[in-house]
Amino acid sequence: MAITGTDINVAKEFLTKGELVAIPTETVYGLAGNALNDSAVLSIFEVKNRPAFDPLIIHTDSLEKAVEFVNEFPEKALLLAKHFWPGPLTLLLPKKQIIPDLVTSGLDNVAVRIPNHPLLLALLRSLPFPLAAPSANPFGYISPTNAAHVNAQLGEKIPYILNGGESEVGIESTIVGFENDEPVVYRLGGLAVEDIEAIVGKVKLMPHSSSNPKAPGMLKSHYAPRKPLYFNHRGAFLASEEMLTGYLLFDEYLENIDRKYQRILSKTGDMKEAAHNLFAYLRELDMLPIQQIRAEFVPMNGLGLAINDRLQRAAARE
Ligand code: TXA
Ligand code: MG
Repeated sequence: MAITGTDINVAKEFLTKGELVAIPTETVYGLAGNALNDSAVLSIFEVKNRPAFDPLIIHTDSLEKAVEFVNEFPEKALLLAKHFWPGPLTLLLPKKQIIPDLVTSGLDNVAVRIPNHPLLLALLRSLPFPLAAPSANPFGYISPTNAAHVNAQLGEKIPYILNGGESEVGIESTIVGFENDEPVVYRLGGLAVEDIEAIVGKVKLMPHSSSNPKAPGMLKSHYAPRKPLYFNHRGAFLASEEMLTGYLLFDEYLENIDRKYQRILSKTGDMKEAAHNLFAYLRELDMLPIQQIRAEFVPMNGLGLAINDRLQRAAARE
């Protein structure tokens, strides 16, 4: 098991030596290394078992530092950065040479974000380099939203987990790129599309992108639990299943089914609470003595788009 603690100096020491540290963010936990150090970046891909064609997000703590890593900041990118950083927004912008090609898998754009977590921001302020950090899960599995999740899956492979408590948002950042300086959403995430549109007007959505060269890593199988998960309208659930089934539901229990096999994302129908609970509940269901998971569609407003997107990607075919 990795040492888990709250000491940013310990984290800093490992990172400065080129070693990896798991970091808390408001979205999900990240597996971080010095983004300017090729061998640290390589070990991120190794530890995660992640294909090298799937690029990494770099994390920094100020707009002043962010502009050192990119060649251009379109006006609308700057508006979004000023409104939502620190926060669950990642911007895809043309990279400067200082960013290693390994980080971007050879692409011309680099993904940048300023995360909103006090402990991580303090760490980032103390470092003379940005942190490359994918979600701290083995490739293809559910992203971790607390230190225990990270320890269970990557604890043998990293020396230190910086424990910042539960990730408040609970799903990964929203990724926004630009086409002719106009914003395009490449990954739905913890910042709702409505909130983005309130600042920059209508945006294009291109989230399903396994064939999209701008986001090569957004594969369909991404967020899968180990048990098969089926994703339907609640009305399509059968009254009696032949298989032992766990249920991931939006705001209401199913009748006549033992509640220990059910998880309710938000009893009040609050989308932020639902997003916060999504991955932790999927993990809990995955650990139950059941054979399959059934998840219901959530309403398509606010973070509901991102929640349905993750469930869709985790789903098996019936
Ligand atoms: O909330 C988050 O974004 C979390 C926390 C740790 O910050 N990080 C995260 O990283 O979700 P990861 O690696 O699991 O997902 C990053 C996604 C990948 O799908 C990748 O393809 C895309 O961002 N991406 C990264 N750099 C890119 C680039 N230069 N061009 C296109 N897509 C990029
Ligand atoms: Mg990930």
